[in-house]
Amino acid sequence: MMVGAGWRWGMFKEPIFRDRVAVITGGGTGLGLAFALRFSELGARVTLASRDSSHLEPARAEICRRGGQALAVPTDVRIPEQVENMVRETLRCFGRLDILINNAAGNFLCKAEKLSYNGWRSVVDIVLNGSFYCSRAALEPMKIQRYGRILNILATYATGASPGTVHSCAAKAGVLAMTRTLAVEWARYNVHVNAVAPGMFPTEGASSRLMPAPGAGERALQRIPAGRAGRHEELANLAAFLCSDYADYINGESVTIDGGASWNYPGFEWENL
Ligand code: COA
Repeated sequence: MMVGAGWRWGMFKEPIFRDRVAVITGGGTGLGLAFALRFSELGARVTLASRDSSHLEPARAEICRRGGQALAVPTDVRIPEQVENMVRETLRCFGRLDILINNAAGNFLCKAEKLSYNGWRSVVDIVLNGSFYCSRAALEPMKIQRYGRILNILATYATGASPGTVHSCAAKAGVLAMTRTLAVEWARYNVHVNAVAPGMFPTEGASSRLMPAPGAGERALQRIPAGRAGRHEELANLAAFLCSDYADYINGESVTIDGGASWNYPGFEWENL
């Protein structure tokens, strides 16, 4: 992701996360790194929590190079003890935890009839169970602070269907249900839980896993009314807004960001009328 000096603050006029600490799971690469860079630019100190530790140090170094503060904690979100350790390390290093972005995900293309039980379990464990473990562990400091913002990263198919990735689709739908439920339960602690449902935001991981066929990316683009894929900074800006004080009265919501693709009903050929 290119982040030029002129982009600093973006749509915001001030460092809205100046005193905030944000944990970003899967923060070492792709969209997670985009969130981390943006939140850091906006003043947050960030913890990067990822299973693949080879990406963590370069990501942490990049944030520091840009003048931010970051901590890298190798974490498999499927293992509650590792999640609890990551929260402890965040508190030890930064003294508080204000924002959690449940971004860590796992996905691959496989027909449901061929999907092994272990393949199903692996993705559901990362996406659904991992999001719960991280939310549950982050709640403890957030409760004491009486402040917390949790953002779950879904996909537009969380409210529909996704042939070829039933494991991810079911897990994301579960995270959406969890988003709404925890929003109600934890509002009393001033802990808000929202979600974003991105459409096509190309990353190396997603493109190679989900669109391996020649021309698949181009064909997917043709179905997007905006005529292009989303830019990482557009998603990061939405995440920043939802985790900021500007969104204080938004709770239990999922915001779709997909260039209108969800509404592009494929049934009628209307373009040449
Ligand atoms: N097709 C079918 N099954 C697959 C698969 C594929 N492409 N990739 C993994 N699996 C199955 C494995 O065969 C295994 O099941 P089995 O024991 O019955 O054979 C099961 O999934 C677990 O695979 P494994 O590689 O041992 O799990 P892992 O925990 O190391 O990896 C994944 C987790 C499967 C989600 C892996 O794809 C991953 O690490 N992805 C990186 C992050 C990612 O996917 N990000 C999302 C980008 S869109």
